[in-house]
Amino acid sequence: MASKFGGLFLKILLVLCIFRLSQGREFRKMKFPNLRMASSFSAALSRGYDYIIIGGGTAGCPLAATLSQKYRVLLLERGGSPYGNANVSYLQNFHISLADISPKSPSQAFVSTDGVINARARVLGGGTCINAGFYTRASKRFVRTAGWNAELVNESYPWVEKQIVHWPELAPWQSALKDGLLEAGVSPFNGYTFDHLNGTKVGGTIFNKNGFRHTAADLLASSNPHNLRVFLHATVQRILFNTRGQRPYTVGVIFKDENGNRHRAYLGAGRRSEVILTCGAIGSPQMLILSGIGPKKDLERLQIPLVLDNWHVGQGMSDNPMNSIFIPTKKPVEQSLIQSVGITKMGSFIEASSGFGQSSDSIHCHHGIMSAEIGQLSTIPPSQRTMEAIQKYSKSKHEIPVEAFQGGFILEKIDGPLSRGHLSLVDGNVDSNPNVTFNYFSHPYDLQRCVHGIRTIERIVHTKHFAELTQDDSYSFEMLLNISVKANVNFIPKHTNDTASLEQFCRDTVITIWHYHGGCHVDKVVDRDYRVLGVSRLRVVDGSTFDTSPGTNPQATVMMLGRYMGMKILRERMGRGAWV
Ligand SMILES: Cc1cc2nc3c(=O)[nH]c(=O)nc-3n(C[C@H](O)[C@H](O)[C@H](O)COP(=O)(O)OP(=O)(O)OC[C@H]3O[C@@H](n4cnc5c(N)ncnc54)[C@H](O)[C@@H]3O)c2cc1C
Ligand SMILES: *[C@@H]1O[C@H](CO)[C@@H](O)[C@H](O)[C@H]1NC(C)=O
Ligand SMILES: *[C@@H]1O[C@H](CO)[C@@H](O)[C@H](O)[C@H]1NC(C)=O
Ligand SMILES: *[C@@H]1O[C@H](CO)[C@@H](O)[C@H](O)[C@H]1NC(C)=O
Ligand SMILES: *[C@@H]1O[C@H](CO)[C@@H](O)[C@H](O)[C@H]1NC(C)=O
Ligand SMILES: *[C@@H]1O[C@H](CO)[C@@H](O)[C@H](O)[C@H]1NC(C)=O
Ligand SMILES: *[C@@H]1O[C@H](CO)[C@@H](O)[C@H](O)[C@H]1NC(C)=O
Repeated sequence: MASKFGGLFLKILLVLCIFRLSQGREFRKMKFPNLRMASSFSAALSRGYDYIIIGGGTAGCPLAATLSQKYRVLLLERGGSPYGNANVSYLQNFHISLADISPKSPSQAFVSTDGVINARARVLGGGTCINAGFYTRASKRFVRTAGWNAELVNESYPWVEKQIVHWPELAPWQSALKDGLLEAGVSPFNGYTFDHLNGTKVGGTIFNKNGFRHTAADLLASSNPHNLRVFLHATVQRILFNTRGQRPYTVGVIFKDENGNRHRAYLGAGRRSEVILTCGAIGSPQMLILSGIGPKKDLERLQIPLVLDNWHVGQGMSDNPMNSIFIPTKKPVEQSLIQSVGITKMGSFIEASSGFGQSSDSIHCHHGIMSAEIGQLSTIPPSQRTMEAIQKYSKSKHEIPVEAFQGGFILEKIDGPLSRGHLSLVDGNVDSNPNVTFNYFSHPYDLQRCVHGIRTIERIVHTKHFAELTQDDSYSFEMLLNISVKANVNFIPKHTNDTASLEQFCRDTVITIWHYHGGCHVDKVVDRDYRVLGVSRLRVVDGSTFDTSPGTNPQATVMMLGRYMGMKILRERMGRGAWV
């Protein structure tokens, strides 16, 4: 009886908390460091910081929160606050943020030279404010290869999890995928787990049961507010170096505020003060080049004074290709992002997502993660995916039969693509997207794994579980598929037993799952402690340092790395006893 009562009390408390959390203003008042506009920055009032962190994203927030326990930290984020922005906070608005291409949007669209439309975060909390929320750790092998201290890794993941990660209530479409995967032989079932294990599992999520999003910005609640200054709409333009001695070292940064006015912020005199770059896989190599660290000929072309010639900066960019198939169902399915995943031995990961499609509300129908409005135009070959193509789709949307929205997607992503690309700057403006090439499927093994993934999806679709969702007396699955193909939602491989046609399918329908990484690789741009090679007092801590994307989806490990590096730095400076 007592425990039942306790449970009810907790539920009421939870509802009250959620109510408060959804009130952005209240949330900030509770325990957050002040989020200030960049224009309120005053150099005169700042004594010099122990750490200047550039980019309040997935890694930057946990890193700033941790370092602020003992040191003075300045966190500069080019975007605004996620709080009180419904486009960020609610699961059902996932596709709205990504489709918003205004300069105020939390998402900055970019198109790689491959023609695949992609997105970069521009908001406090970074990618965790615009992503699909799936939370899952890296494999043990990944941790070993990275040379991380497994014990500290084991302490850093739970630090993130207890603050912002939830177990999902499995949506019907996700449950169907789980059962279909097992029936198709992607086994064993590993249950609800954060661990990366071969077989099928259900992972965590940063959305709570009400579809309210928690983000890396929430981790700032664990900061020491007396030591941390957070400025929003603070776009760093350049890192400042002292280049008079033998080895250049950082002294501060130049940033512009929301009115375009420039400010300088400086590190304190301590030898161990550092600038730490956490601008993500596009932003960090871009910032190094803008600051004079990169390939000499690029710096000359851009007329940027050379600090250090390193041709590896911006090299080795890669993005895991994603391909998907829409499975029409006889009844509408509830919207879901990602909850279940199949980890195949061949190295492709199978996930699922469903949008919203109900005949009573056809205006609001959309395909969630695969929405054409956000550039996931998989029925058009990459080279033809233009703004005009998106607009054409939007205009014709009301003519698409509602059956074409009724159903869900099964997607596959390949692990550790061997295809590599590169990044270079178009100009010296920090607001311009760099010119990025990923070379999807240029390596034959990547193509082979895609074909394997699509064949696995085909097996899943033909399992008993899916037959129940797709078969009907009046509609055969083939008829439903035909409707989706005619409505230009689906592009079905013509012959799944013909490898050449499946390879063509992989190339023609490639889209992104936004797990791009690289550009500041370990041993090429940074050392194993993420210190930039050849200069002092500068590190890069984010997805740009990864050779492969961790786990099936990377956010857990990027946040973990922010916490991990914060703890590692504290322990190095204060001895192992440092406990925060
Ligand atoms: C649409 C989408 C869906 C995804 N779904 C999932 C998922 O379900 N699960 C999962 O695990 N992963 C998912 N990911 C991937 C994951 O979110 C990213 O890999 C991760 O967030 C990247 O972290 P980061 O720290 O490298 O960069 P970011 O989080 O992007 O952080 C970089 C920050 O730096 C700021 N910045 C950049 N330049 C400057 C500058 N010059 N001055 C100041 N600030 C600057 C940016 O505004 C940003 O806030 C998804 C990503 C996207 C975009
Ligand atoms: C949310 O997105 C819509 C559609 O793009 C836009 O009109 C609105 O201004 C956005 N809201 C916020 C708070 O940015
Ligand atoms: C870390 O945790 C994993 C399980 O999550 C465990 O297998 C491993 O032994 C742990 N490592 C250390 C060093 O504690
Ligand atoms: C999981 O699959 C990979 C191949 O992708 C294999 O190398 C590894 O040994 C497998 N692990 C287990 C525990 O079976
Ligand atoms: C972008 O890169 C591609 C491929 O490397 C190149 O062909 C193109 O000229 C570049 N564009 C710009 C604007 O630099
Ligand atoms: C699907 O469409 C094609 C071409 O429009 C047609 O030939 C075929 O008979 C259709 N199949 C079914 C099962 O309706
Ligand atoms: C698939 O392969 C079988 C056996 O090789 C062949 O008979 C059949 O025609 C193929 N189907 C398609 C659609 O190519």
